[in-house]
Amino acid sequence: MVRRPFIAGNWKMNTTRSEAVQLVEALREAVAGVDGVDMAVCPPSVYLDAVSAAVQGSSVALGAQNMYHQAKGAYTGELSAAMLLDVGCRYVILGHSERRHVLGESNEDVCRKVHAAFAAGLTPIVCVGETLDEREANKTTDIVAEQFFGSLAGIDGDQAAQVVIAYEPVWAIGTGVVATVAQAGEVHANLRGMMTSRYGAAVADQIRIQYGGSVTADNAAELLAISDIDGALVGGASLKADSFAKIIRAAVS
Ligand code: 13P
Repeated sequence: MVRRPFIAGNWKMNTTRSEAVQLVEALREAVAGVDGVDMAVCPPSVYLDAVSAAVQGSSVALGAQNMYHQAKGAYTGELSAAMLLDVGCRYVILGHSERRHVLGESNEDVCRKVHAAFAAGLTPIVCVGETLDEREANKTTDIVAEQFFGSLAGIDGDQAAQVVIAYEPVWAIGTGVVATVAQAGEVHANLRGMMTSRYGAAVADQIRIQYGGSVTADNAAELLAISDIDGALVGGASLKADSFAKIIRAAVS
């Protein structure tokens, strides 16, 4: 099965309001007429509304970088799935390595959020990936499996078919060190195997797996050519409209 590629930009905590709007306006122009690929940007939450207005009528979708699993209530500082939908989000990144490692999120936390995202109608982009120490200790498969099965516990096949998984080796994030085609290909193929064992081949065939970690306009084509790599979750290179547009184009060429 040929899965439709999906390229998403994770802007992290890196733009001002005017930079966010300018960036998405330039991107919108740069990808006008590009077809055959899903694309999204994930700005800082406070600028979701502004970016949402700027992408109206374009093929650039909106995603958030995180959310809380509760629907409403006394959770100071948090945002619900309904709030993200309300400002026009279609996607939400969950369990990004920075949230796991800097902010202490567990697989159980991520799993609660995945359930809440589906309940509200958001598509989760669930991140998994090993640290350098874990890779060097030959624990990559175990860690990725723990994160995949733990984050998707209780998710049924219909929901799983919609989920997007992002494999982001922590050692490749923001470092300029990209996983080799062999390294990424191996983990993506293992993930497809986990999906098949848990949900069966028909569902596993539909799940898109993005690669993330130092993806650039120069290395995107090579990574995206791998059969189990269905897109990219891009950090630094998504902060420039021209480089991000090149990565999007690489997914369809
Ligand atoms: P970089 O592309 O900057 O390495 O970041 C990857 C990432 O964490 C995307 O979520």
